[in-house]
This record gives sequence, C-alpha cells and structure tokens, in this order.
Amino acid sequence: MSANNLPRHIAIIMDGNGRWARNLGMTRIRGHIRGVNSVRDITTECARKHLEQLTLYAFSKENWSRPRYEIGLLMRLLKRYLIKERPTIKDNNIRFTVIGQIEGLPEDVRKEIAINIEESKSNTGMILCLALNYGGRAEIVDAAKAIASDVAKGEMSLDEIDEDTFKHHMYTADMRDPDLLIRTGGDMRISNFLLWEISYAELWVTPVYWPDFKKEHLEEAIREYGSRERRYGGLIE
Ligand code: FPP
Repeated sequence: MSANNLPRHIAIIMDGNGRWARNLGMTRIRGHIRGVNSVRDITTECARKHLEQLTLYAFSKENWSRPRYEIGLLMRLLKRYLIKERPTIKDNNIRFTVIGQIEGLPEDVRKEIAINIEESKSNTGMILCLALNYGGRAEIVDAAKAIASDVAKGEMSLDEIDEDTFKHHMYTADMRDPDLLIRTGGDMRISNFLLWEISYAELWVTPVYWPDFKKEHLEEAIREYGSRERRYGGLIE
C-alpha cells in the first residue's frame, strides 16, 4: 500500500467491553479492565506505524447515566491507566492530549491528565488523544457559544463566520480530521462522536468486541481503508 493510502488519523469507538465480559460469564468491569490492554496494544501499534494521530472515545457525556459503581470504576481505571502508561507514552515518543469537557471530570483524574500532557508535550511522534466527558453536539454548542461571544465583543462580524471559524473553535482546532473511524462491537452508529470532524472519514465497523481487538484487526481496517476511493463529494478522473 502506498503511503498515500495510509490513514494519518484514526479515531476509534471502543465498544463491546460489557458484552465481551457477559459472554464469558464475567462482570462488565472485567471487560473494561481487559479493554485497557487493547488501548495499550493498539496505541503502541499505531505509534509504530507512524500514524499522526489516534483518537480514542474513552468516556462520553452519555456514560454518566451508567450505574454509579461502573462510573466509579471507569474513573479509577482511567486514573490508573494515566499513571501506568507513562512509560508507554515516553518510550513511543507519543504526545498525549485530551478533548471533551475535562472540567467535568474528578479532580484526581484531571491532575493525572495534566501531568501526562506536560510530560509528553515535547514528544514528536504520534498524538494520542483521549475523548473524555466528550459529546459531539456539546462540542458544536461550545464552539457556537465561543463564536457568539467573539461577535458580542465586537471581535468578529457575523459575515466573517464560516466553516473555518467553527473548525478553529472546536476542541480539535489544531488537529487534522480523522481519515478512518473504526467502531468495534458491531453497532452501525456514531454515538455522538466527533460529529463535525468525521464529515469525510471512512467508516469501518467490526463485530469484534474491544477487548478482542488486536493488531490484525487494525491492519484489516487499514487495508480496507487503502482500497477505498475518497472523493469528498467530487469525481475521480
Ligand atoms: C464500551 O463498552 C466502552 C466504554 C464505556 C469506554 C471505553 C473504555 C475502556 C476501553 C476502558 C477504559 C479506558 C481507558 C482509556 C482507561 P460498553 O460497556 O459500552 O460495552 P457494551 O456495549 O458491550 O455494553
């Protein structure tokens, strides 16, 4: 496959932890714990493939509606992950970042996020972006509010607002849009993920549950991506 056909930014909806665990007669929690292994394996593999960015949907705004004990566990897992994965981030020259309403996360989690961002800010390899307390509609609303505020302050006129203005007010302002969106667990939906940014992303859904998602599945997705023609609404000569 030529370098042109390789995705530069992959985004993943990591779904199916609960079903993976249930099928094996375990609690949902075991599924999330195993899901963290897949996060580590896929992150390392993407960095090794010199991807520019990997964005992982780790906790959505909608996830707050889960039982309290599950939310508590996800937050503890996240904190442990942020601490434990520092060597992975360092050894793979990864720049760590986050998108979402981070202010809504527990303070101890925010503290670890800030450390990972600070410690990895000079790394020059792949960007690893975790979407946390993230919602695609909320992101668009936040952008609209920030733009409205600029207009109200007289810093921008209505006529100046265009798609670029929105792009620059998204959480992803300084990132390229995903080329490939992978969803594990088989459901054919977007679940409020990166609504603005995936306008032209190629979608690839696999029935494989996230804890079972391995290098070979990633490679299958990348191969399939390479065989597609991206036309962006135009025609190929
Ligand atoms: C969906 O499984 C997955 C999530 C709720 C978020 C992903 C979380 C992880 C991979 C573990 C923690 C991540 C980090 C980065 C520490 P589900 O529970 O919706 O599965 P189901 O659809 O089978 O119920």
